[in-house]
Amino acid sequence: MAIYDTLGATYSRTRQPDPRIAARIHTALGDAADVINVGAGTGSYEPARTVLAVEPSQVMLAQRPPRSAPAVAAVAERLPLRDNAADAVMALLTVHHWSDLAAGIAELRRVARRRIVVLTWDQRIFRERFWLVREYLPQAAAFDDTRAIPTDRLASLLGGARQEPVHIPHDCTDGFGAAYWRRPHAYLDPRVRAGISMLAQTGDDTLAPGLTMLADDLTTGRWHDRHTDLLALDTLDVGYRLLVADA
Ligand SMILES: C[S@@+](CC[C@H](N)C(=O)[O-])C[C@H]1O[C@@H](n2cnc3c(N)ncnc32)[C@H](O)[C@@H]1O
Repeated sequence: MAIYDTLGATYSRTRQPDPRIAARIHTALGDAADVINVGAGTGSYEPARTVLAVEPSQVMLAQRPPRSAPAVAAVAERLPLRDNAADAVMALLTVHHWSDLAAGIAELRRVARRRIVVLTWDQRIFRERFWLVREYLPQAAAFDDTRAIPTDRLASLLGGARQEPVHIPHDCTDGFGAAYWRRPHAYLDPRVRAGISMLAQTGDDTLAPGLTMLADDLTTGRWHDRHTDLLALDTLDVGYRLLVADA
């Protein structure tokens, strides 16, 4: 069973594509006439020129909006596609879930004629700059240490790639790990945590002491005293990166 058959039941509730991140992805895709989305999930960020979505989880496939691009149940490591199948291939917030990263990236390179776009994060920056994992939930950071892909390794597997920082807006509509960096109360909401694999897979029992501490600090105002600087920012670089490779 695909892992998102368990994790993804409420994905579309908290994970709506953010238009500012969409604009960055669409710019990175350049003038590609057709796009294949690998690890496509519910279809976030797919431009109109998407010709196929590849996604292993039936639970995720079932949440794709009506009239979105055709989708096939398959994994990145074995794409059911011919060589050079589309101008561009994108893989967004997915490579850390793959069981064989090198095989999956080799498949992206096989099917992309011109461009590959990968959205991921730099775990060293994330650990250092994101208060939630640094101060409250180090267990979640430790879990991510086991699966985060160093961006330089990814770039090398891609045969070279430009790495572009993606700053996260304070009101980001896609509720991934650090999306709520300026809305700390959100992390106390189990529906929000269910949409963040780093938290859902670490588990509430392990997270409980840190969440209690966060709740206390929000009640007493300690969190706000410590993070006044964040409240003045509209975007933050928490380590998310777009890797853009020419095939
Ligand atoms: C965090 S979701 C991201 C979905 C979508 N790209 C987005 O940006 O909303 C990760 C997705 O990767 C998929 N996935 C996990 N293992 C995969 C694999 N080996 N090949 C392709 N996709 C995979 C999951 O099923 C899930 O839909």
